[in-house]
Amino acid sequence: MSTQLLSELNLNGLPLKNRVVMASLTRSRAGIDRIPNALMAQYYRQRASAGLILSEATVVSVQGIGWQQSPGIYTSEQAEGWKQVVHAVHGQGTPIFLQLWHCGRASHSDFHPKVGLPVAPSAIAIAGDSIHTPKGKKDYETPRALDTAEIPAIVDDYRQAAVYAKEAGFDGVEVHCANGYLIDQFLQSKTNKRQDNYGGSLENRYRFLDEILGAVTSVYPSDRVGVKISPNGNFNDMGSTDYRETFLYVAQQLNSKKLAYLQVVDGLEFGFHDLGEPMTLSEFRAVFDGPLMGNCGYNQETAEAAIANGDADCISFGRPFIIDILPALNQRLQRGILTDSDS
Ligand SMILES: Cc1cc2nc3c(=O)[nH]c(=O)nc-3n(C[C@H](O)[C@H](O)[C@H](O)COP(=O)(O)O)c2cc1C
Repeated sequence: MSTQLLSELNLNGLPLKNRVVMASLTRSRAGIDRIPNALMAQYYRQRASAGLILSEATVVSVQGIGWQQSPGIYTSEQAEGWKQVVHAVHGQGTPIFLQLWHCGRASHSDFHPKVGLPVAPSAIAIAGDSIHTPKGKKDYETPRALDTAEIPAIVDDYRQAAVYAKEAGFDGVEVHCANGYLIDQFLQSKTNKRQDNYGGSLENRYRFLDEILGAVTSVYPSDRVGVKISPNGNFNDMGSTDYRETFLYVAQQLNSKKLAYLQVVDGLEFGFHDLGEPMTLSEFRAVFDGPLMGNCGYNQETAEAAIANGDADCISFGRPFIIDILPALNQRLQRGILTDSDS
């Protein structure tokens, strides 16, 4: 079958051998010190048939932790540990970006007793779910709303994380603005009720992300920085009535940044807020000129179609890469046998 998915792509100057991207997948294998290890290097090496690998979400600070044994990028030991992963993936001729993560309210004080309560734009707890903490399954706590004066230090954590990522050899970083984590919490009206310069208007809700992008692009050029958003998602109790207005504004602002790419979780298979018509890649294409990456629930046919009709430049796959134990998702794609029943 003819394939554009397996054709080369120039990602704003970064050559990719194909348009299959491995999406970020938290695997919780980094131990309590959150230092990447040989098992993780092997896991990523096995999946380096992708054109680009996006690492699992990696916390930029102790305050940002919200998942057991997920890796970090806030100590030199963690940066050192990541080197073996980068080396393994580069050995297969594949670039790899590190995904930068702060969980915000999707956390619990059991993860960081010295920090105390999780932080968020506003003191609004995640409803209808619980969290696996180091001390067992617990209800979400009501987070502490960040003081305006605390925000520059968090922005600087992202800058420092990018410095460590560069030291580890990553080709770029992805700023995780999806799935109801801290940056998404700032962007969305459901979770951001602030009265200061970081809340209220679209411009104010976007400001935190803008400052973080300013910080990480002081380390990496903007064409080595990607952004992931999930305008349709309800994961972590998200979904705001003004989602379309919010995310079109965000994409318009990002357009001037000349980023490596914008990754949009447009598919609904990771949860849909059902607040109206889902946003589509073509809506983003209309306001974002740079490389666009679709994600969520894609199979070979839908991925090929999204590229063929110009909606996406590349597609990231998450769950199909988990089950592909002995890699080469693209070998299956080449043979035309990636179907919905695989994911
Ligand atoms: C086990 C698992 C772990 C995930 N971890 C992350 C993560 O660390 N960062 C992230 O942005 N998304 C994460 N996701 C979401 C995926 O990146 C992706 O957006 C989602 O699985 C939809 O794509 P798919 O339908 O191809 O799987 C995770 C998903 C799964 C199933």
